[in-house]
Order: sequence, then C-alpha cells, then structure tokens
Amino acid sequence: MVTRRSVLGGAIGAAGAGLLTTGGLVPLLSAQSAQATEAVTVPAPFTVRMPTLPVLAPISVLGGQDTYAVTIKEVAREIIPGVQTKVLTYNGSFPGPVLRARSGRTVAIRHRNNLGMPVSVHLHGGNVSPENDGGPMDTFGPGTSRTYTYPNQQPGAALWFHDHAHHMESEHVYRGLSATYLLSDENERSLPLPAGQYEVPIALRDARFDDAGQLVYVMDDVFGRTTILANGRPSPYFEVAARKYRFRLLNSSNMRFFQLRLSDGGQMIQIGTDGGLLERPFTTDTVGLSPAERADVVIDFSRYPVGTKIVLENTLGPGTPDQVGKVLRFDVVRTASDPSRVPDVLRTLPAMAKATVQRSIVLSMDEDGREEPRGLMDGQQWDYQRIDQTIAHGTSEIWTVTNANKIVPHNFHMHLVQFRLLERNGAPVAPSEAGLKDTVRLFPGETVKLHATFGTYRGTYVYHCHLLDHSAMGMMANFRVR
Ligand code: C2O
Ligand code: CU
Repeated sequence: MVTRRSVLGGAIGAAGAGLLTTGGLVPLLSAQSAQATEAVTVPAPFTVRMPTLPVLAPISVLGGQDTYAVTIKEVAREIIPGVQTKVLTYNGSFPGPVLRARSGRTVAIRHRNNLGMPVSVHLHGGNVSPENDGGPMDTFGPGTSRTYTYPNQQPGAALWFHDHAHHMESEHVYRGLSATYLLSDENERSLPLPAGQYEVPIALRDARFDDAGQLVYVMDDVFGRTTILANGRPSPYFEVAARKYRFRLLNSSNMRFFQLRLSDGGQMIQIGTDGGLLERPFTTDTVGLSPAERADVVIDFSRYPVGTKIVLENTLGPGTPDQVGKVLRFDVVRTASDPSRVPDVLRTLPAMAKATVQRSIVLSMDEDGREEPRGLMDGQQWDYQRIDQTIAHGTSEIWTVTNANKIVPHNFHMHLVQFRLLERNGAPVAPSEAGLKDTVRLFPGETVKLHATFGTYRGTYVYHCHLLDHSAMGMMANFRVR
C-alpha cells in the first residue's frame, strides 16, 4: 500500500524537477575561494553539540517599554567544525537570538543595517501597525537604522522575525537573518510547564555548503539544501535530563517541510502552535512543520534510562534519509527532579465572530520546466502598488485557499492576523492545527478554509507563500484593511 506519507515525500522529492533556475537573481556573496586542497565535508551526525540560542538583553526597560539594539551584520561562524562560514546575522548570532517579550508590554527594536544592501525586518505572527510591519518595499538601506515598535497587544505566541526585503528576503533569510521572538502572557506563565533551562527554543532549517564550507544560495534549490541544521549546527546532539522538556520548534527553512518523529516511535505532547498554546494538549508520534510554522512540544525523557539516545528524525524529502533524516539526537545523561506538568486545559480561545465575507485564493507556480518560473497568487505576480483584497475594518472573513499545483508544495501566511483553520480538504482539522495559526501548509492540490478577524490596525499588508524562494518569485499579494 502506498501511504500518504510516502506519496507526499515523493511529491516533494519531485517538486521543482524543472525548477532549478535562479529566477534571474545572482547570489549575494560569492563563495570564498577554497584555499584548502581538501573539500570540506559535513560531519557525521551527532558529532557536534547543539547550542542553546542566546537571549537578547534589552538596552533599556524604562519608559514603559523594553528597548533593544540589534546590528545586522555579516560575520563568520562555525557551523561545520573547524570551518568559518560567512553568515548574515542579527547581532552576530547564527541562527538569530531569542527575544523574550510579554503581552501588553511594548518592545522597540532599533536595527542598524551594516550590510551592503537594503533590509526590512518583519515580526512574523505579530499584530503590528503597517509602519512597523517590515513590508517588502519598506526597507532601510546600508549604514542606516530603523526602529520597529511592537505593542504586543496579543496573547502569548511563538513569533519570530526575519528579513522581508522583496526579492532578497529568500537569500537574506537563507544566509541567517531570522530570530525567535517568544511572547508570553500571564496565563501561560501561570501554567506549570517546563521552564528555565528546560524550555529550549530550537530553530530547524536546511542548508547547502560548497567545498569550502560556505553557504550556497541558488534560488529554488529544492534538491541542493540537504544539510539539516538545528540551532545552527549540522545534526547535533543535545544532552538532556530524564524529565520533561518544552521545545519551541521553529522551521526557519526557506522551503523544506519537516515531518518529525522520535526514533523509538515515542510520544510527544504538542501544546502549542504558531499563535501560542492550544486549548488542550494532545499526544502524538509526529509533528509536521512547513516553512515558518512553529510547534510547542513537550517530551518526557523520564521514561528513558540514563544512557539512552533518541534521535529526532525527519521523514520527508527531498533528500535521502541519510542526508535529511537525522535532525538531532537527545542524549539522556542524568536524572533530575521534575515539578513541571502539562495541564489538561492550556487556554481558552476566543469565540470566532460570524464571518460576513468569503474569498477564494489560489496559489500556483509554473511547473512546466520553463527557465524563470513565476510564483502566482490568483494568477498574478505580486505588484506592490496593486491592492488585491480590500477588507472592511472590524469584519471577520472566511478564506478558502488552494494550492493548484500538481507537484509543488506551498503554504500560506498572512501578516497582521492570527487565523483559525476551519477545514482541510473538506474535513475537520487535526488537533495540531486547531489553535491560532498564521501559516498553514498546502501540499499539492490541498484546500484549507480559514477564519480571520480584521479588527485591529488599518492599512496594507501582504499575504504570501512562505516558501521564501516562491514569494521572491512573486507568490504574494496585498490586502488592505480600511
Ligand atoms: Cu514570515 Cu511575510 O513573513
Ligand atoms: Cu510556494
């Protein structure tokens, strides 16, 4: 029997067979010339330790807001042992650091652009005004600074920020411009979930290295990016105690979909998604993450004796299981007391207001093998001056979103709102998609129905495929709330 998983793996493996063109874009940073005579190779799995991500410290907590200063710069970092790889960073961290914010308390981030090209910074999943949204055309140039202000008037959520400069976002994010932004609220802080050193943000992504160990960026390189990085290291190991951990997973890949499982088939407890905690936790043996999606997952290692090693595996291509199947290994190295608990009820989601408008959105890209495939939203490439959807402020709407492609997977992300998924392919949604979402996967031929309320800011925002190489090819559109 052909399983659904193998069909999808095959579909993704075949995706882009004729789509390996650069879309006319030239890589930003030419690879460092290989001085060494021997080609650099990615180390065997589980030979490097997974670091935890640095937490950004505010430069000021005065005046009712937390103020941060970030420098966007190119640095060299060790990804492959013994090799310095050039990366683009927020404050020198690869991947970006973690910013911890609180609902109701404003965060202002002053970004200084020390790169040679314009950037913009988008708070993914954030409810922010258009001026602070970091839209594709709202860039700031080399040598300049820009302050983004985030009021955090929304419940706790697993946000992140990343570059969004149009046509460059895909390469900028690929080279490192993404960071985690964990917004917590009082309800979340009152729960006895694993915390402190037992709450671990992990950014997962893929990458392609040349013989000198430098990152290779080729647009729409679906088959080339076959090294999996967890917190910036290739298939690392992570030492854990035999107790519960809370992992804040982010798929920061440009195009890779992950389907994660534990090598012993063991259960995980998913407690949250993009827009924060689910109403109720559920146990599962697999967690799927399309690009930009987040999952909040508790794993209880107390069931394993000290000395056990459990691999977090990925079962989706492209790439062979040897290349992309081993994400990281948890090594249970000690016992520890564990006062944490996963409560049966995590939060109450607000009721969905009655939707008064229905829209249909179709994502597609040329998959006929042409030289410069276009990414299309309702048959059109993005035009920053065209308003594709006009929405009355305060209304709720139902959007039916379809991936019209036969082999290419997509996903769908809206700025400004957290939406609710009502249906996937006409059926009720799985518990993993039952919470607040801002990004939803769309395998070839899939259709989802989502519910969104536009009751906060007015102005123009984008919605797009979050396979960033696709949005850079035009798979993006504008909505205006007025
Ligand atoms: Cu991660 Cu336009 O977004
Ligand atoms: Cu896409």
